[in-house]
Amino acid sequence: MKVLVTGGAGYIGSVLVRQLLAKGYQVRAFDSLKFGGDALYDVMLNPNFEFMKGDVRIAADVDKALEGIDAIAHLAAIVGDPACKKFSEEANETNWDGSVLLFNMAEAAGVKRFVFSSTCSNYGKMPDPDSFVVETSELNPVSLYAELKVKFEKYLLEDKKDSPMCSTALRFSTVYGFSPRIRFDLTVNEFTRNAAIHGVQEIWGQQFWRPYCHVDDLARAVVLVLESPEEKVRANVFNVGTTEENYNKGMVIKEVCKVVPNVTVNYVDSSEDPRDYRVNFDKIKNELGFTITKTVPDGVREIYTLLKTGIVTDSFAQKFRNI
Ligand SMILES: NC(=O)c1ccc[n+]([C@@H]2O[C@H](COP(=O)([O-])OP(=O)(O)OC[C@H]3O[C@@H](n4cnc5c(N)ncnc54)[C@H](O)[C@@H]3O)[C@@H](O)[C@H]2O)c1
Repeated sequence: MKVLVTGGAGYIGSVLVRQLLAKGYQVRAFDSLKFGGDALYDVMLNPNFEFMKGDVRIAADVDKALEGIDAIAHLAAIVGDPACKKFSEEANETNWDGSVLLFNMAEAAGVKRFVFSSTCSNYGKMPDPDSFVVETSELNPVSLYAELKVKFEKYLLEDKKDSPMCSTALRFSTVYGFSPRIRFDLTVNEFTRNAAIHGVQEIWGQQFWRPYCHVDDLARAVVLVLESPEEKVRANVFNVGTTEENYNKGMVIKEVCKVVPNVTVNYVDSSEDPRDYRVNFDKIKNELGFTITKTVPDGVREIYTLLKTGIVTDSFAQKFRNI
């Protein structure tokens, strides 16, 4: 099976590419290289790997990328609320127009599977602060980023549910952990980096909840869906993570302080973050047998170990964040 990974040079994509190669798949990564292609240098030598530079908004690029492809993991996007706010036109064109273009061209080319990386940000703010949202809960997107993800999910799961191409939306938890394209603008990695390098972290709105999942486990979920029987995943949506890994920001920094010595934490009262959700992940566990292999404390140790060596010479550099 030949798998196209759009956004294959990104934080999650570069991990997914390696997992697919390790399982014997042929892989083509397709990416516009907004953050460079360093994350893929070593895999270029793998005979089962191919890289194609291109843009999901350009039909001619997509056409070439689809040659000989059986399945797609669609990760390319303008990622995160701040990036989508800052580059709103590019976000609309990439996350909506580009996704629709890719889907329609893939369907016409006879591709069999389409896995879309959506986000738990779609839940926005929980109506009941004591409850856990599930896949059928109301979606409350509070940013352009989440609005575009919700819009494309609806396209896949409602408008295109009877397409000959089987599609699945995965609502990823917030990611952490090591990747060849590591990002330090995501909560667990950022708090650990700030604590390790500056010894200080300011926490705005420690009460806000979010689920977290290691990048290795998110990538494993994509592989699992590609390998699951069609009847279990067709026109279906799964939260990706585990219910035990919901943390509020105060809990995340406590985990960081258990690992990184002498950290000063300044708590700032804030009701500014409109995203506040605790997510239940029973569906992916019960229906597909998904379980995680790493937890937030593991991720904190992993990032701290990496930074302590000094091998990342400037973890505040532009290339490690999306804006
Ligand atoms: N990181 C998270 O916490 C998180 C959480 C939920 C969902 N997701 C989703 O997972 C996917 C991957 O996220 P990530 O963290 O790896 O982000 P990333 O920014 O590291 O990777 C995205 C990749 O897409 C590429 N890209 C952007 N525009 C493109 C275009 N027009 N054509 C081709 N390539 C383009 C970029 O060059 C980049 O390599 C995204 O769809 C994101 O919305 C991420």
